[in-house]
Parts: sequence; C-alpha cells; structure tokens
Amino acid sequence: MSGVGLDGVTVTYGRRASRRTTAVAPFTDEVAAGEWVGLIGPNGAGKSSLLRAIVGLVEHGGEIGIDGRDVREMSDRERAALIAYVPQQPLIPDDMTAREYALLGRSPYINYFGSESHNDRVVVADVLRRLELEPFADRLLGELSGGERQRVVLARALAQQAPVLLLDEPTSALDIGHQQQALELVAELRRHDELTVVSAMHDLTLAATYTDRLTMLHHGVVVASGVAADVLTAERLGDVYNVCVTVDVETDDATGDTTVIVVPRRGAPAP
Ligand SMILES: Nc1ncnc2c1ncn2[C@@H]1O[C@H](COP(=O)(O)OP(=O)(O)O)[C@@H](O)[C@H]1O
Ligand SMILES: [Mg+2]
Repeated sequence: MSGVGLDGVTVTYGRRASRRTTAVAPFTDEVAAGEWVGLIGPNGAGKSSLLRAIVGLVEHGGEIGIDGRDVREMSDRERAALIAYVPQQPLIPDDMTAREYALLGRSPYINYFGSESHNDRVVVADVLRRLELEPFADRLLGELSGGERQRVVLARALAQQAPVLLLDEPTSALDIGHQQQALELVAELRRHDELTVVSAMHDLTLAATYTDRLTMLHHGVVVASGVAADVLTAERLGDVYNVCVTVDVETDDATGDTTVIVVPRRGAPAP
C-alpha cells in the first residue's frame, strides 16, 4: 500500500517568459494509500500535467512523494515498480501483439537479459481475460479498434501490479459496457490489492460512482475537493464548464450510499 503526497506541486511549460504557461498552480493533497481520487475539470485544466508530474514525464516544482520518498530520487525502474500510468494519448507500436505489449508492464520485474517468467505470463493472461481481450491477444495493435487498443494499454498498466495507478481518461474511447468493465476491474484490483488510484475522468457520473473523492481543477487551480455530492453542484459545473446540467443526488436508505448523477440539459449558457 502506498500513498501519494503532493506538496505545493507546480507544472510550468515553456522556457521563455513570454511563452510560459502555468498548467498547475501550487497543488497540495494527500492521497491516502488505497484511496481513489478523481481529477475532473474542463479541457486544459491541468489534469494530465499533474499526472505526468507524478510519473516523472514533466518537471515539477514542489514535492511529490510516494510513501514519503521523493519521486525525483527514484530510478526509472524503482518508479515503475511503484507507479503504473495510462496516458491520455499513448504512443503504441502497431507491429506488436496485444499480449507482447501487455507483457511490457512486467518489465520492472524482468532483469535486463532475462525473459519473462511463468508468473509474468500468468499475470498478463489474467488481465487480458478480465478485460475480455483474449480474442485479440495475438493480434497486432495496428489492427485493433481505438477502444480495443485503449483496453490493451490499461492491461499493460494493470499487469505492472504497481501499488499506485494513474489513469488519464482511461475509458474515453470505450463503449458504456467496456467502460463499466474497465472501471469495475480497477475497483476490484483496488479492493483486492489495495491499489491507490488517481484518475482524470470526463464522465462526471462515472467519476462520482467509482471514486472516493473528487478534485476539480480549473486553469490549474483546485476549485473544489471532496465527496462527489459536495463537489458536483449544478451551479459550480455551470461556472467551471459553462454547461447547463441538473444534478440528482440519491441516498440509499438501507446502506446510506449516495449516487450522484449529472444530466446535461438543453439550453446551454452562451460562452
Ligand atoms: N507540452 C506542453 N507544452 C506547453 N503547454 C502545454 C503542454 N501540455 C499542456 N500544456 C498546457 O497546459 C495546460 C494544461 O493542460 P493539460 O494538463 O493537458 O490539461 P487537461 O489534461 O486538464 O486537459 C493547457 O493550457 C495546455 O495548453
Ligand atoms: Mg488531459
């Protein structure tokens, strides 16, 4: 189990002052071990930049620690054993099979000259099965649909079995059934393996359903953070996304669980 500590994290692009963009203003949060936090916010809010900073793909200001260890002090291999990351726009080789690609998730455990072990193959086969990717396992990635490829990328990250999982819009190309299947699998792995999950998501109802807590970013700044029913108000969504929605909050009398449903309405406000 690993928590993620973020202390005054900033991400800035562009070296020249005239072209400098602050994508993430100082961001401070403590993602507890085993927690699932959803990052939401409109396009350009800074969600991907924050995830990229955690995984070390962009430089950051401030401190990011996994279990109190500064990510800057970790080797690539150490980091890969701790953090699995599904990028928003993965670059994937067309000439590799789905199974070979998913096996790359096992690389932190395979030594330089070594080939994968029986266990590596079992882990990959299990993830492929659970994502209904078995029929595609030996097909080339270049011959899969966008949604199938997205599930293969998720399979690679899950095969990595890292305690921290970062997902950048992992279900954007999936149909409603495969969205549910992928998120259910993440939820199950989280329970079973006590994964810590941070995911950027556009579907607010799905984000509310699966995460413990939502953090809403706007222009790189946190505008709200907390349980979905508090964060997702129609008024705030109107202000931040410039959208007209109604939000239904239902509480199950027996379990006390709340369901938050965001429904877009006709009559969007003018920009
Ligand atoms: N490589 C980059 N170089 C310069 N600016 C970037 C780069 N990547 C993202 N940005 C800018 O940073 C801001 C945040 O982007 P991003 O983190 O991708 O937002 P989100 O994932 O929430 O849509 C945007 O203004 C975007 O234009
Ligand atoms: Mg993004």
